[in-house]
Amino acid sequence: MPERSYVIDQMISAKAIAARVEALARDITQHFKGTDKLVVVGLLRGSFVFIADLVREIDLPVEVDFLEASSYGDAMQSSREVRILKDIRGEIAGRDVLVVEDIVDTGFTLHHVKTLLMARQPARLEICALLDKPSRREADIRATWTGFEIPDEFVVGYGIDFAQRNRNLPFIGKVRFTDGAA
Ligand code: IMP
Ligand code: MG
Repeated sequence: MPERSYVIDQMISAKAIAARVEALARDITQHFKGTDKLVVVGLLRGSFVFIADLVREIDLPVEVDFLEASSYGDAMQSSREVRILKDIRGEIAGRDVLVVEDIVDTGFTLHHVKTLLMARQPARLEICALLDKPSRREADIRATWTGFEIPDEFVVGYGIDFAQRNRNLPFIGKVRFTDGAA
């Protein structure tokens, strides 16, 4: 894909994200209260900033693990075919699991990951997604907790990339192309 020129319009401020992360963590702490260990599974790479902030607000014993699934490559459209590039390291049978995702778009990624992890028989498995684009959903999947519902826009920042760029923005912004093409 040729380099395209674009600007980023802020959609969700760093302050709004921080407030929402705190509220999500409170709900998660309440839900899993009394657990001996919560295994928090971040989906790489987009969730790395979110999971870092989220686990620091969760008041429970946690283990952090990561799983990498790929459906996008560097394109802006899901390929629908989900591959596991890196599996989690720990055992989750009989454990409480929280899957942390950046964005639920078509839902194919989460659907695939949930099916895979459920086959290992965790005691409980819940999903926390920072962003949800409900109008794009094709697979039958719902996050237990969602940070923000957003319209069908391509977004970057707070861990989320466009062709591996802009992950380090502290806010979430939408990509607006300035080179005329759609
Ligand atoms: P799904 O399988 O279609 O739900 O794809 C979810 C994944 O696509 C997310 O984990 C993101 O990595 C990526 N994705 C979806 N929407 C966007 C976006 O607006 N910006 C960047 N990545 C996105
Ligand atoms: Mg992703």
